[in-house]
Amino acid sequence: MQLIRQGGARVSFTANRLLLFGATGDLAKRMLLPSLCALCADGLLPDSLEIIGTARSDLDDQAFRNLAREALEKFLPADRRGSVATFLNRLSYQPLDATQEDHFGELAKKVGPIDQGLAIFLSTAPSLFEPTIHGIIKAGLAGPKVRMCLEKPLGTDLESSRHINDAVAAAFPEDQIFRIDHYLGKETVQNLLALRFANIFFEPLWNAAHIDHVQITVAETVGLEGRVGFYDDAGALRDMVQNHMLQLLSLVAMEPPSSFDATAVRDEKVKVLRCLRLVGPNETVTGQYRAGAIGGEAVKGYDDELGKESNTETFVAIKAHIDNWRWKNVPFYLRTGKRLPERVTEIVVQFRHVPHSIFAGKGARSTPNSLVIGIQPDEDITLSLMAKVPGLDRGGIRLRSVPLDIAMPNAFAGVHRRIAYERLLLDLIEGDQTLFVRRDEVEAQWDWVDAIRASWTEHGMTPKGYPAGTWGPSAAIALAERDGVTWHE
Ligand code: BG6
Repeated sequence: MQLIRQGGARVSFTANRLLLFGATGDLAKRMLLPSLCALCADGLLPDSLEIIGTARSDLDDQAFRNLAREALEKFLPADRRGSVATFLNRLSYQPLDATQEDHFGELAKKVGPIDQGLAIFLSTAPSLFEPTIHGIIKAGLAGPKVRMCLEKPLGTDLESSRHINDAVAAAFPEDQIFRIDHYLGKETVQNLLALRFANIFFEPLWNAAHIDHVQITVAETVGLEGRVGFYDDAGALRDMVQNHMLQLLSLVAMEPPSSFDATAVRDEKVKVLRCLRLVGPNETVTGQYRAGAIGGEAVKGYDDELGKESNTETFVAIKAHIDNWRWKNVPFYLRTGKRLPERVTEIVVQFRHVPHSIFAGKGARSTPNSLVIGIQPDEDITLSLMAKVPGLDRGGIRLRSVPLDIAMPNAFAGVHRRIAYERLLLDLIEGDQTLFVRRDEVEAQWDWVDAIRASWTEHGMTPKGYPAGTWGPSAAIALAERDGVTWHE
């Protein structure tokens, strides 16, 4: 165990036990076990780290290792696995019914001594959340050397999120609570901070005087993916905007933090979230996909996939404003949806026109600069610049927008791209909260999102249909176009 700082309430340590609740679930199979295995292969896990899985399934250690092996074969490329046997040897398993308090005693025995540091990763159904916390406390699995990591969904509105936060806070102080937003683990999302704060030339222009508007798009081609119960109760606003999109927005809009540490970064993000203006009824559009085609393949409509009629939105577009000095009257257009034509997450910063074009008298038209930050699947940064079209200009000067393009995988060839959870799990084990969401952020996010939902109810808004494979209802296009803005596609 590495003890970095001890004193007052805060203890820094590297945990040597990791306890995974929901260890047989989808997230564990697709993300957590592959991430841990990849970290192990690269020698990045502490040598003494033991990983204990728990879930309702009645497995023993060996059966859990088999489940993990299958997940690794399916979800982790062979060249990232290293010695799978070494990784599997770290794993053990304890079945648990979280509603049975007495089961936690057996779990605590399996976990063993926690005085060297325990990290708990909680990814369970919302209904099991509180019994699990109580069981953890009762079994003596809470304490100053325990970190509690929480995966979404953390509530469905401000009230339920407060309830959960209170339950966790009864056992753990905030500096031991790690709330996941996996977008913060994405390399390109962190790169946004490098782009803004490790370069001199963007920051002086990064304000209402020079930026016309910002667009944030998180488009997915997938539909329900079998998450019938969960998604229909959530909808796009709660599933994507409340967390990932607002985190992206706050990273784009925040003031420069004084350092890259948990308090400084999160202080700046929460200030942005608190400045979000209430959204008016004409500033949101909701949609729900109907039958259509994605990549040439016919797909069902949402109701059909769900097996019943529903008013849940699978698409949302919002015109947001941040009421502070820097962003006064700069619209942030947000849109996200399922069954859109392509999978793309990107941020577009649209700059203003030059104040005076010296070329106008020569017939040249200029286009304002834009910066496009591709987050996935392509990790590209493209700055559009005006350039003169080569020629003798007898008929007047012609200007054209040309891209200054950086493809990150080329710029960093040979450096492998990591799964977002690799970074987050390592930070959890080592105790760095910078890329985790603080309670006040989550609550500010819910506050804003709840007001949007209340306004939908008040105005009787229901989602408009859009064919799968299109960019949402036409009203979403109109939302931007009536301001003279075109969505970047
Ligand atoms: C999750 C949502 O948080 O993020 C899913 O619940 C969504 O509905 C997913 O598909 C998107 O994550 P990514 O990393 O694939 O963009």
